[in-house]
Amino acid sequence: MTMAPQDFFPHLSVWVENLDNVFPGKQVKPLFAQFEVGHILSLIVLGGASILMNLRLIGVGITEESPREVHRNLAVWMHVGVIGIVVSGILIGASNAERLYTSEAFSAKMIGLLAAIILTYGVTLPAARNDGALSAASRISGVIGLAIFAVAIWVFLSAKLANPGLWHVIFAAGLVVLYASRGLTRIVYLGGAILLIVAQQIMTHVVYKADDFANLDPTNKAFAWGFVVWILGSAIFQALASGRGSHGGPLLKGLALASILVWIMTAAAGRWLAFA
Ligand code: HEM
Repeated sequence: MTMAPQDFFPHLSVWVENLDNVFPGKQVKPLFAQFEVGHILSLIVLGGASILMNLRLIGVGITEESPREVHRNLAVWMHVGVIGIVVSGILIGASNAERLYTSEAFSAKMIGLLAAIILTYGVTLPAARNDGALSAASRISGVIGLAIFAVAIWVFLSAKLANPGLWHVIFAAGLVVLYASRGLTRIVYLGGAILLIVAQQIMTHVVYKADDFANLDPTNKAFAWGFVVWILGSAIFQALASGRGSHGGPLLKGLALASILVWIMTAAAGRWLAFA
């Protein structure tokens, strides 16, 4: 079974086919590239605000300012980025709707967007405004956001040809954990990551030849899971070892990491829908 929007909403096909013949798709179509630049600029604003605010909740980055001050300076940019990316997305989507309708990566992207909005507006922004304190409502939002994020990853995993886009998410998680870990944990973590990278290169370039897909695919998938276990295991160890710190405990740190990664997954699915 495939999981493109057309599989869930088959009755919408006639409406979707006609979207680029009517306002606003018709007007946006000749200006697709310009509107897509707006999409990417919104992503830069949104991504920057989200990364800085969530890193602060993890306890690194702009530590000279309290989470509340970081919130005061960045919340408006988060709203600008979210509104900009959704509005520009709807406009370019209307001008190229059939591609989205048949894309499993687009399903992953929309489910990811829902999780991203719940985690951003239910956890990141309120927790930063409260100087790192997680209210009961934020905890509930966190659980719901994580569950929907897991569904989005599952759909992305099932999207043939687009699913290598998940490597971006793994790589981003690896970098955030490297930046956030400290002392001996960071050295051991980096050493393990380098070993995994070297082992993967040897397996996929020396042991198996470039056209041996029957062996390359399962090997790369096994390494992807290996990286996930190593990165998340190290993140959990670091979050527990660093205790509550001056702001927030391991739960807040985990949710802040997920709040960064959910936007990266949504962006990766957006980019990779072009390849499927
Ligand atoms: C209602 C929401 C959205 C819609 C309808 C939408 C629609 C689109 C469309 C039509 C494309 C062009 C795909 C192609 O033809 O190759 C695209 C690309 C993209 N989108 Fe979205 N998008 C939405 C939200 C988002 C969000 C929230 C993010 C990031 C967090 C995002 C990130 C991207 C990226 C990175 C690309 C690739 C751009 C490129 O390759 O130049 N989009 N989106």
